[in-house]
Amino acid sequence: MLSKKNQQEKSRLHPRNKNRERYDLSALIEVNPELKNYLKPNKHGENSVDFSNPVAVKTLNKALLNHYYGIKNWEFPDENLCPPIPGRADYIHHIADVLRESNFGRIPEGDKITCFDVGMGANCIYPILGVTEYGWKFIGSDIDQKSIASAQHIVNSNVSLKGKIECRLQENSKNIFRGIIDQKDKIDISICNPPFHSSAEDAQKGTRRKIKNLSGKKVKTPQLNFAGISNELIYEGGEFKFITNMITQSKEFAKNCYWFSTLVSKQSNLKGIYQLLEKFKAKQIKTIPMGTGNKSTRIVAWTFLSAEEQKEWKKTRWKTKSK
Ligand SMILES: C[S@@+](CC[C@H](N)C(=O)[O-])C[C@H]1O[C@@H](n2cnc3c(N)ncnc32)[C@H](O)[C@@H]1O
Repeated sequence: MLSKKNQQEKSRLHPRNKNRERYDLSALIEVNPELKNYLKPNKHGENSVDFSNPVAVKTLNKALLNHYYGIKNWEFPDENLCPPIPGRADYIHHIADVLRESNFGRIPEGDKITCFDVGMGANCIYPILGVTEYGWKFIGSDIDQKSIASAQHIVNSNVSLKGKIECRLQENSKNIFRGIIDQKDKIDISICNPPFHSSAEDAQKGTRRKIKNLSGKKVKTPQLNFAGISNELIYEGGEFKFITNMITQSKEFAKNCYWFSTLVSKQSNLKGIYQLLEKFKAKQIKTIPMGTGNKSTRIVAWTFLSAEEQKEWKKTRWKTKSK
C-alpha cells in the first residue's frame, strides 16, 4: 500500500512514532468507516488516501487518532488548520528525549510533568499526543477565542483527556508567556509550532507549492489542504519575529520553565535565533532535526537553568536523585 518513497519518508520518523508503521487501512476503516469514501487507487493500483483532498486528510487523521491514541472525538471547524499527525507526534517524542537526557536516561512520565503548548490551535494536537503517549499534563494557550473553545470541547469529549489539559486564552497577541504563566507556575517544557507566514500572499504561495507537490497540479487559487485560518498561519514578521519574541520573553520566565522549545521551519532563521540565545545567556541550546515527506524542519530547545538549578529541579519536581 505504501510506495518505496513513502516508506523512506516514514523511516525518518522518530523510532517511537506509531505512524512509522504501514497504515493498516482495514483497521483504520474499522474505527472510522467514513474513510472508505476517500480512498482511490494510486499509480500502483493500490487503495490509498488522496492527500490533496483536505476532507480525506482530516478523515484519515481522525482514524489515526482513534486507532493509535484512543481519541474517539476530534471535531473542529473545517477552516482551522488540520495537522498531519506523524510530524506532530515526532515533536512530542523528541521533547520526551530532551527530558530523558536531563533525567539520567529515563523519560519522566505522568502528571508530574507539565508541558506548555504555545498556540494550541483549535485541533489541540500536541496536548492530545503528550497526554496519550506520556501521561503529561498540559497548559495550552491561544489568542483565538474560538480555537480555545474548540480545544476545550475536544478535551471535554474524550475521557482520557479530561482534567489533563487546561486551555487558556492569551488576550494580548504580543505576549507569549505573560498572561498565561504565573510567576508561581512551574513548567517542565514549553513547545510551539509558530505561525510561519509573514502575509496572506506568502501563505498562498506556500499552499500552492504544497498542492503541486502532492497532486502534481498547478493551481491559481489554492484550497488549503491542511486548512488554516489566517491567524493560525500568519504573523507580521513571520516565524522569525514570533520566535525572537518568544526567546526575548522567555528570559522573564527563566526560573519558571526548565526547557523552552520551538519548531523552526526555516533553516535560514537559525543563525539569528542562536545569536539571540547567546545574547540572553542561555545555559544550554539543543537543535533536533526532524522531517516528514519532503519537508525538513527542526526543534530548537534552550534552558536558562544552571547545572545546579537543573539538579534541584529534578530532585524537587521529578523526584529523581543524581547518580
Ligand atoms: C501554526 S498554528 C499551530 C496550531 C497547532 N498547535 C498545530 O500545531 O496544529 C499557530 C497557533 O498560534 C496561535 N497564536 C498566534 N499568536 C499567539 C500568541 N501570542 N500566543 C498564543 N498563541 C498564539 C495561532 O492562533 C495558532 O493557533
